[in-house]
Amino acid sequence: MLSLELIAAVVAIIVTGLTLQHVLLSAGNDEPPFIKGPIPCLGSAFAFARDPQPLLRSLQHKYGRIFTVYVAGQRMTFLWDPIFGNRQAWSNTSSLSLGLFMQYILQSLFGYTKSVAADFEFLDHLAKKVVAVLSSKPLLADITKTLQATYLSLVDDNSRYANCNDEVIDLYEYCRHNVYYSSARALFGLGFPFEKIYQPYIRFEDDITKFLKRYPRFLNREGYKAREKVLDELGSFFMDPHRVSQSSVLVRSLYDIFMASTHKSPADFAGYFFAIIFASKSNSVPAAFWVLANIVADAGLKTEIEGIITKHYDPESDEFEWTALMEDPLIMSCFKETMRLNTNILSSRLVTHDLTLKVANKSEDDSKNVRLREGSMLMMPLNMLHWNPEVYPDPMKWIGKRFLEENQGILIRNVDKWRSYAPWGGGGHICPGRYLAVYEAVIQLVYTLALFDVEPIEDLPAPIIGDRYGAGVLKPDRGYHVKFTRRKTPLMSVA
Ligand code: HEM
Ligand SMILES: *[C@@H]1O[C@H](CO)[C@@H](O)[C@H](O)[C@H]1NC(C)=O
Ligand SMILES: *[C@@H]1O[C@H](CO)[C@@H](O)[C@H](O)[C@H]1NC(C)=O
Repeated sequence: MLSLELIAAVVAIIVTGLTLQHVLLSAGNDEPPFIKGPIPCLGSAFAFARDPQPLLRSLQHKYGRIFTVYVAGQRMTFLWDPIFGNRQAWSNTSSLSLGLFMQYILQSLFGYTKSVAADFEFLDHLAKKVVAVLSSKPLLADITKTLQATYLSLVDDNSRYANCNDEVIDLYEYCRHNVYYSSARALFGLGFPFEKIYQPYIRFEDDITKFLKRYPRFLNREGYKAREKVLDELGSFFMDPHRVSQSSVLVRSLYDIFMASTHKSPADFAGYFFAIIFASKSNSVPAAFWVLANIVADAGLKTEIEGIITKHYDPESDEFEWTALMEDPLIMSCFKETMRLNTNILSSRLVTHDLTLKVANKSEDDSKNVRLREGSMLMMPLNMLHWNPEVYPDPMKWIGKRFLEENQGILIRNVDKWRSYAPWGGGGHICPGRYLAVYEAVIQLVYTLALFDVEPIEDLPAPIIGDRYGAGVLKPDRGYHVKFTRRKTPLMSVA
């Protein structure tokens, strides 16, 4: 049996060892300012896990645009430099790897099979296909057409909203369901088991921090159960060639790549497509919600937007002029402002070779070369770019007209020189779903305001940040209740 003394001695040795290791941790002069944190081994992990935002803000205040925090055995360098640093980091795919960073979570978060997660060439092939399909205008048009038709079917005269009159609706639930449904149908076709997947998916997303913090299974039973359900359903979907044949060109062409490889099991398909659904829906659903909600909350702005919607309806073809709507300066400004305020993404990389970045400190003239160590992680929190008062006065306020030409130099500064708007990241891994995400938000905005009179009955919810820092477009901390009334004359008939 172990005596207490022995245990005490062992603990003392371990603590001494850790403390020594902690004291020896350091960084060279050519490296970013280094913050070890107070506790051996765990470094700044506790403060970091509770709520990273205030910690990062105070470090930013003290050390500037780049610094390294030691968290649980890892050196994490935080960088937010719209002048030089971010651009260089995003374009350097030879020394900074997104794929290797993702290796940490592909299996543990999304349930990738080992064989898929380890096959870099295969993953690269899939990623290139996603980019090729989603940046092709005709292929994307195929997807967005289904998106429009499906969204309309959710709110038209045969829908549950056909007769609503002063009905109180939670606009967040409405958006979450409708954007998820229309997008799932547009990508996966009529065979997508929406009814079986939606609730467990939502459950997984709501428990995401438990996965990111690697809670053991017994502390996150519901989360794991929900994830398994989604994975099972996706696996069965891909074992059914008939259902797959009804899906979009994106899903079919990815399917063909799987079928031509050695990765053909239900689990191989499920993990990968779960990640695609997550990358897409966890961001575009709340983004589309915030666009609509912020416009609804501002009566004057809402009237202006309704006017734009009316103007871009063509009675001859009985269609909205989607291209014109997507390019309308006010609608785009509202969308961009939403992305600026609500994109809570850490663009992250593993440093695969030592590299040197030029980083600005206070200004362009005050830059310095900084070395990143091989094996460390680079984290670029997009909201540190987007919530910067030097660029965006009153940064935490949603101002729908901020991005209008007339407000350049007033509500946005240094826009021509600095890269301070980057909700999609940049360089080699810039989001391939960005065009689709704009469509989703605009389709919902247009159909909702065209068919309903929407009247807010409470204040907008606040976005949740806290321990969800970096976990995707911010979610609201509660629902947003509004009154829905079916318009007697939809905006298209006014035209
Ligand atoms: C408002 C919605 C969205 C936002 C804010 C967003 C944001 C981002 C960002 C910032 C990145 C780059 C990450 C990095 O640099 O580390 C990214 C990557 C990615 N996004 Fe999106 N995204 C959105 C919607 C979508 C949609 C609709 C899809 C649909 C398929 C999608 C698929 C992807 C994929 C596959 C990648 C990885 C690209 C790669 O590995 O090179 N995203 N997204
Ligand atoms: C930026 O300036 C601060 C002082 O304002 C300094 O502590 C910090 O080390 C500088 N950062 C770099 C990367 O030079
Ligand atoms: C990436 O970084 C390495 C190491 O600093 C450098 O040699 C290379 O030129 C960089 N590549 C790009 C595209 O900036």
